[in-house]
Amino acid sequence: MITFNFKSFTQQPNSMPKERKEAIKKKFQTEDNKKGWYDLERQEAKIKELEETAIEIRQNCDIFLVIGIGGSFLGAKALYEALRDPYQKETPEIIFTGTSLPNDNLTELKHYLKGKRMFINVISKSGNTLETILTFQELLPLLKETAQEDWTKRIIITTNNQQGKLFDFANQYQIKRFTIEDDIGGRFSVLSTVGLLPLAVAQKNIRDLLEGAKKARSEEDLAYAYAFLRDQFYQQGKELEAFVIYDEKLSYFTEWLKQLFAESQGKKNKGLFPVSLLYSRDLHSLGQYLQEGKTLLFETHIRAIQKDKDYNTLEEELQKSVCESHVENQIPSILITMDQKNEWNFGYLIFFFYLSAMVGSYLLDVPYYNQNGVEVYKKKLTKALEKEKITLTSLE
Ligand code: PA5
Repeated sequence: MITFNFKSFTQQPNSMPKERKEAIKKKFQTEDNKKGWYDLERQEAKIKELEETAIEIRQNCDIFLVIGIGGSFLGAKALYEALRDPYQKETPEIIFTGTSLPNDNLTELKHYLKGKRMFINVISKSGNTLETILTFQELLPLLKETAQEDWTKRIIITTNNQQGKLFDFANQYQIKRFTIEDDIGGRFSVLSTVGLLPLAVAQKNIRDLLEGAKKARSEEDLAYAYAFLRDQFYQQGKELEAFVIYDEKLSYFTEWLKQLFAESQGKKNKGLFPVSLLYSRDLHSLGQYLQEGKTLLFETHIRAIQKDKDYNTLEEELQKSVCESHVENQIPSILITMDQKNEWNFGYLIFFFYLSAMVGSYLLDVPYYNQNGVEVYKKKLTKALEKEKITLTSLE
């Protein structure tokens, strides 16, 4: 269960005018080929196959490698980190990689993987993303070395259904492939094959995840209220939204949120800049600025009730003290509380934030589903690498 508090530590929020809400709903209905993420039943139909594949992977490897970046990485990584006990050794070990160009870290990973029984899930909707393909290219020889003639059976490719280096590679070697449908954008894909397969391998309950999401879909007014409130803050001059967490297990969840909102709304010179804060850690560094610096932001606190009652009381008191203190410097707070960290609650929150990102984009009059800005650096980098004679030809 999730509770939302849009009122304390915040001005009394106005609710979105009915006509505006209706207009947004109507507009969303006309967005053909962009709203596949809304169709949770489509994903439910794939659960059995995903669970069977996950069992096969679990039984046949010591290390499960997930390679991807952005929407093809963050959601699964966020839930994996939030739902696991980091001090328990797990089999298979799950390693997420691919979010930078090959570097020292990858060299070290290669040493670590040498001789180990692996399974690789490489995820990219386009199938061409530089960071993903280069990382895969670097790790493939290791897999071939240990798996010998069986190497093609130890790869799962998650990509689109038509084209791209990964699609071609899967066809050429008859590698198992899961499809990312055209109408599901990268950052809206955690509840699709993109996020569900790695999470099923990690033995997370992907059925509950989808159930939670369905509940959020049935309570969409909450997402409309949150989207409207953050839009009001923006209209009043706030420039940043800080997603505040108290539990480091949620660190990647705020990374996912940053991508969702920045790529959906940072367009036409508009949009709140999303940042993340971990308390108490950041109270002892950025806390000074928050208390006495410029009043650029508002905070959205995301907290899960701690299992230990005393620890929970500590966290709750910290949250109250922080909110009361920061509002003195005109930094208001929105509170979102989960009764525990479980799949159902995260499924709910993911879908709640999907809806909020979509509604908020319409309020700003920017398209929520593209991210053309990301292409600019990619083009420059590809050109520069060509000059250095580093090209992405094909996977071999
Ligand atoms: O939201 C998006 O579409 C992007 O952030 C992508 O997820 C990211 O760029 C990775 O793209 P791809 O899945 O094509 O490798």
